[in-house]
Amino acid sequence: MTTSSTTKTRPVNDSFALEVLEGLNGTPRTISPAFFYDAKGSVLFDEITRQPEYYQARTERGILDSIRSDLAAHLQGPIELVEFGAGSAEKTETLLEALDVATYRPVDVSASALEGAARRLGSRFPGIAIDTVVQDYHNPVELGPVPKGQSRVAFFPGSTVGNFHPSEAAKFLGRVARMLGKGGALVLGVDLVKDPDVLHAAYNDAAGVTAEFNLNALRHVNARTDAGFDVNTWKHYSFFNPMASRIEMHLVCTEAQDVRLAGQTLHFDRFDSIWTESSYKYTPQTMGELARAAGFTVETVWMDERKWFGVMLLRAIA
Ligand SMILES: C[S@@+](CC[C@H](N)C(=O)[O-])C[C@H]1O[C@@H](n2cnc3c(N)ncnc32)[C@H](O)[C@@H]1O
Repeated sequence: MTTSSTTKTRPVNDSFALEVLEGLNGTPRTISPAFFYDAKGSVLFDEITRQPEYYQARTERGILDSIRSDLAAHLQGPIELVEFGAGSAEKTETLLEALDVATYRPVDVSASALEGAARRLGSRFPGIAIDTVVQDYHNPVELGPVPKGQSRVAFFPGSTVGNFHPSEAAKFLGRVARMLGKGGALVLGVDLVKDPDVLHAAYNDAAGVTAEFNLNALRHVNARTDAGFDVNTWKHYSFFNPMASRIEMHLVCTEAQDVRLAGQTLHFDRFDSIWTESSYKYTPQTMGELARAAGFTVETVWMDERKWFGVMLLRAIA
């Protein structure tokens, strides 16, 4: 663990620094969850998925493995597969094996994660054209035309949709529906509401990997701006808020400090906090309503035996 206290000079018009500053000046103070993901953040996320408490990745992978032939029956090729927030694209292997995919376009803010994924998948699936897209999907993603003779299918696993506020999720899904066009399919992974103790444990693993991942947001900000957060004095705090049906992840300051960022001094009192992530939990019904409002119909919902996770096949209406 490193604490950055070095003085780095960065131009104040650095858009990353300005975005961080805007979030830290808000009420509540926030840092976008996209800022967890520098190269180290992407590695830490993959480590989280291997923690015994983090059932999501294993469960979603199990569902995808069990529905290979169903997916192939619903999604005929040749396909251009566009994946949002692909990261290391481990689960994508199941889709690339099961479907007739001609082109794979993973979209992510983490260039290092995409490079690693493209190298691995390129050697495993030499017949598939891989085109990585380093973009922030909060903005419209520029993909260009669908390759001739292929139909576009979108994949958004990992319940990353839960990181959007539901109203933002509806807007994002609306953009995906328009990008797909009438009849286009989205395969969406959704973490479902369940016993709060199970949820709490998943975001508070005993090995402390989620805590490191959360603190990495401050390290990432220190590395890319002139900020000097004393990372060792911040604490991971995460809990399930049943009224809002979401996990909230916060960083709590344990020692008062002033942090200079992009020409401004930010003061943090002891026990001030920064909200770094929400992870909304849905039922198939609540996500179905949201998807319909965004311009999809729900074709199928597959769940594991415990009904902890859902994989939904959505079709764009217009
Ligand atoms: C929860 S992880 C899921 C990774 C992988 N899809 C999985 O299911 O294991 C979220 C992924 O979305 C990416 N991501 C987060 N915010 C993003 C944004 N605003 N634009 C593009 N990618 C983003 C992260 O880099 C990360 O790879």
